[in-house]
Amino acid sequence: MHVRLFSFSSGVSLQVQPFEPDMHPDLGVTMLQLPVIAMRLLAVAIIAVASSGALAIPPGTDAEIRERISPFGQLRRPQVDEDNGAVAEAPVEREPRAAEAIYAQFCGTCHEIGVGGAPRMVAAEWDDRIAQGMDVLYASTINGLGAMPPGGTCFDCSEDELKKTVDWMVEAVQ
Ligand code: HEC
Repeated sequence: MHVRLFSFSSGVSLQVQPFEPDMHPDLGVTMLQLPVIAMRLLAVAIIAVASSGALAIPPGTDAEIRERISPFGQLRRPQVDEDNGAVAEAPVEREPRAAEAIYAQFCGTCHEIGVGGAPRMVAAEWDDRIAQGMDVLYASTINGLGAMPPGGTCFDCSEDELKKTVDWMVEAVQ
């Protein structure tokens, strides 16, 4: 019978093979001494790991340690870089797209033929929806509804562009 007392992470393990109840055949110690020896070996192993640096407390004062582990860089946007006198860059403005163009590129894919239950561009399919009020229609378009993903798949559309497109659709079906 092999009894594995413990093993080091290196894979070295101490195995005990009882032969006579009292005396260990290879180690020359009595069986009662083995647990004591095992505990001592374990203590030595723990001290070895601790002093190897793996568990050591890093040197330096708190401030020095904080300095050492501080983030590598900081993101500064030109607009907020006032101390350096940097010229604030105007955010890139894009001309808002026309509602009809947005409809043609994105919304029509589903709303022309009614993909996934999308109301087609006929009054009968819109009356009940329009009755909910424009704010509901805007919110459904911005957040998505049923099979319609948020923004009606126009992911870079602004909320204003989406609202104008809804306005355009509602006018077009009336
Ligand atoms: C992937 C298909 C798809 C695309 C693309 C799509 N829709 Fe829809 N839309 C739907 C479906 C499906 C519904 C019905 C959802 C339901 O009632 O469950 C819907 C419903 C709506 C409604 C009615 C919401 C309500 O509250 O009743 C509006 C308004 C709308 N879409 C506007 C748009 C606009 C604007 C676009 C383009 C920016 C767009 N949709 C693009 C599938 C689409």
